[in-house]
Amino acid sequence: MTTDSVAAPAYDVIVVGSGAAGLTAALALAEKLKVLVLAKGSLTGGSTAWAQGGIAAVLDAGDTFEEHVRDTMIAGAGLNRGETVEFVIERAPHAIERLIELGVPFNMEGNALHLTREGGHSHRRIVHVADATGWAVQSALLKAAEDNPNITLLPGQSCIDLITGRHELRYSGSGRVWGVYALDEKTGRVEAHTARATILATGGAGRVYQFSTAPSGATGDGIAMAWRAGARVSNMEMMQFHPTCLYNLDVKNFLITEAVRGEGGRLINPRTGKRFMEYYDPERLELAPRDIVARAIDSEIKRFGLDYVHLDISHQPEAFVKEHFPNIYEKLLGLGIDMTREPIPVVPAQHYTCGGILIDLDGKTDLPGLYAAGECTESGLHGANRLASNSLLECFVFGESCAAHILDHWDAFDAPPPVRPWDESRVTDSDEEVVIKQNWTEIRRFMWNYVGIVRTTKRLERAMHRIQMLNGEVEEYYRHFRVATDLIELRNLLQTAELIVRSALHRHESRGLHFTLDYPVTKEAPHDTVLVP
Ligand code: FAD
Ligand code: SIN
Repeated sequence: MTTDSVAAPAYDVIVVGSGAAGLTAALALAEKLKVLVLAKGSLTGGSTAWAQGGIAAVLDAGDTFEEHVRDTMIAGAGLNRGETVEFVIERAPHAIERLIELGVPFNMEGNALHLTREGGHSHRRIVHVADATGWAVQSALLKAAEDNPNITLLPGQSCIDLITGRHELRYSGSGRVWGVYALDEKTGRVEAHTARATILATGGAGRVYQFSTAPSGATGDGIAMAWRAGARVSNMEMMQFHPTCLYNLDVKNFLITEAVRGEGGRLINPRTGKRFMEYYDPERLELAPRDIVARAIDSEIKRFGLDYVHLDISHQPEAFVKEHFPNIYEKLLGLGIDMTREPIPVVPAQHYTCGGILIDLDGKTDLPGLYAAGECTESGLHGANRLASNSLLECFVFGESCAAHILDHWDAFDAPPPVRPWDESRVTDSDEEVVIKQNWTEIRRFMWNYVGIVRTTKRLERAMHRIQMLNGEVEEYYRHFRVATDLIELRNLLQTAELIVRSALHRHESRGLHFTLDYPVTKEAPHDTVLVP
């Protein structure tokens, strides 16, 4: 049995994702084209709305592009592509101007933007809206998109797979992408949405780990969809762990922004009562890049058998702390911690997916008609470790560059052919929800234990063995039962876990975020881990 025939496409471009990357692309495209934006769950459910610290940009007379480039390459342990780093950093001031035009109320200091500091940055260069920058950015972009008659926003759509030549009614088998199959979360029906061009802006894969600061929908959907359709992915082993996630038995993923350390916060071993970063990075201390600080905390926790370490900013004046971190202050107070008087218990948690769908400077992927932007991509900006606050920036720059390339080459994009509707022959609802929950928990736990901050080949092999066992079970489940969002996510989570472990097994060195006891030395020449489907 199949659904009714597919209507002619009403949109020129489909954007999957309504975070910083997706909405930036949609707004730029909408100057000339009709754009459909699809999002899983709510329109504000991605990481963008959660961002705290801010956006990095050279805006101070004493700062230079060269220094921002150098800081980015040092954090990225030389794996960054220089061309991309320059491309993004030189466009940062324009991105900030554009956000100001859209009404983002960045903090000011007199007539100038207030710049805060974060780990790995040699200057104060982070523009921010107190400690809730992401929410301000998400709201401004969304308001502009809602007001734009050329943009249709469709929340509650879980995209399942890309539509390619394999799905054309007159099968061509080509890799040309024509849109997506998406599950309408309300009706339970799967629609084929087609267009001349498709942009994936689906965010990261943080939820593949047991502890993550990322929202629950960060299940690597775009990366898995692109991979299944035939696009290469790169550097998936480079998973970033943020050093300071709140340790609390009830609240599992609340981030304590790096700006707390930027404004003087100190890391203290609660057993010894001493600052410990001087043993790990005596020069940069708490403001060393994230990989170094996260490994230092991990090492203290393991060596002393601790549950957490302390982050202490109580030596700063109370008014200063409340002014800089009003949301964190309120949140912690609600949990019984007064950060103006006492230290905050923190642990590292997965935070950012540095690898992803391989793209060029135009946001083009390997597949004709498919672009990608933001955290689901590997653009060459972050290398082996992302510099703090470079991520939102990447979303704005690549959102715009995808749109610019599509607009400049619009005449070359042909109209989509008729495509096969989704096969609805799987009409049986799952009778064993527990299978999904069990597998989900299992993946996240072994990824945390075996593919975390410190790795070994044996642990990676163990993880791969588990993945191979689960692959059969999840695929069988997927084939037999009607699709639902949690099943779609589980399938993508497992696919992403496999890409991470395969990439980690390929890298026979320690570099940036990939630290393995079996290959502790960094090789002289950096190389990307590129997986080919
Ligand atoms: P997201 O904002 O994650 O959006 C993804 C979109 O894709 C969502 O709309 C989602 O619904 C949709 N989607 C996903 N899968 C599907 C599917 N199958 N079908 C349909 N839609 C789908 N970076 C900084 O630069 N500065 C910061 O201060 C900062 N702080 C952070 C704090 C936290 C707690 C976290 C988690 C991250 C932070 N980051 C920060 C990182 C940054 O927020 C993200 O990298 C960035 O927002 C990603 O934007 P995006 O547009 O790529 O994806
Ligand atoms: C933070 O505020 O610490 C997060 C910044 C980032 O992820 O870039």
